[in-house]
Amino acid sequence: MAERLKDKVAFITGAGRGIGREIAVRFAREGADLFLNATRMETLNETRRLVSGSGRLVEVYAADVSDRLAVEEMVKKALDCFGRIDILVNNAGIYRPSPFLQYRYEDFDRVMKVNVYGPFNVTQFVLASMVDRRKGKVINIASTAGKWASMNQSAYNTSKHALVGMTRCLALEMGSFNINVNAICPGVVETDMLSQFGPPSPELVAAIAQRIALRRILKPEEIASLAVYLASDESDGMTGQSILLDGGMVFV
Ligand SMILES: NC(=O)c1ccc[n+]([C@@H]2O[C@H](COP(=O)([O-])OP(=O)(O)OC[C@H]3O[C@@H](n4cnc5c(N)ncnc54)[C@H](OP(=O)(O)O)[C@@H]3O)[C@@H](O)[C@H]2O)c1
Repeated sequence: MAERLKDKVAFITGAGRGIGREIAVRFAREGADLFLNATRMETLNETRRLVSGSGRLVEVYAADVSDRLAVEEMVKKALDCFGRIDILVNNAGIYRPSPFLQYRYEDFDRVMKVNVYGPFNVTQFVLASMVDRRKGKVINIASTAGKWASMNQSAYNTSKHALVGMTRCLALEMGSFNINVNAICPGVVETDMLSQFGPPSPELVAAIAQRIALRRILKPEEIASLAVYLASDESDGMTGQSILLDGGMVFV
C-alpha cells in the first residue's frame, strides 16, 4: 500500500507517551520523518526506539511547550534538522481535575499554560515556515471536553474549548495560505491520562464504558488513524473542523 505521508516532515508534541507516541509510530509507518517533543528524554527515547525500524529520520527534543523561549529554540532546531515542517500535531496536554470552588489557582493556570499557550507558542513559530511555502497541516488534539461540560474539569474543559476556538480562528486566517487546521476531539482513550480518574479497575472501566455507545474505551491507535487522514493530502478540502472520535459518548 502507498505511504500516505511519504517524505513529509511531522512535528509532534507530547510524543513521549499515549496518543502522541502512537501518532509518531503511525506517521513513521506512513513514510514521514519525525521531530518529536515531550518533557522527558526518557519517554522520548522509548518512542524513538519504537519507530527506529521504520527507516525514517527521527529527532527528539525535550522542552515544555508552555515555555515560549524554549519553544522558539526547539522550532529553530527542527528547521535546522529538516529544513521545513509539513505537519504539526499539537498533542501535549495535561489534566488536573478539581471541583471548581476548590480549584487551586496554580493548577488552573498550569492547565491553561500547557493546553492553550502550548499550542499557541508552537503553532506561531511553526506557521512562519508553512506560510512561506503556502502549504501545511496543523492538527490539534482537543477533547470531547472541548464540546460540552464535564464535572470537576473546569480548567481542562475551558482549555479544550479554547483549543477548538483557536482551531476555527486559525483555519480562517490560514486558509488563504493553503494551510489546513483541524482538531480531533477524542473521548476516553487508554493512556496514562486515564489513571487520573483513579486506578483503572474493571469497575471503573465498566462505569466509563456505560457512557459510550460502543461500550469500550478507545485505543490510541484509533486516534492516530484519524491523525494520518488529517495529515495527508486526502484531507486537503477540510479545515476548521473539530472532529469527535469518542465511540459515541453520551453526554451526562
Ligand atoms: N487519554 C484520553 O482519554 C484523552 C481524551 C481526550 C483528549 N486527550 C488529549 O490527548 C492528548 C494526549 O493525551 P494522552 O492521554 O496521550 O496523555 P499522556 O499519556 O499523559 O501523555 C502526555 C504526553 O504529553 C507530554 N507533555 C505533558 N506536558 C507537556 C509539556 N508541558 N510540554 C511538552 N510535552 C508535555 C508528556 O511528556 P512526558 O512523556 O515527558 O511526560 C507525554 O509525552 C492531550 O492533549 C489530552 O488532553 C486525551
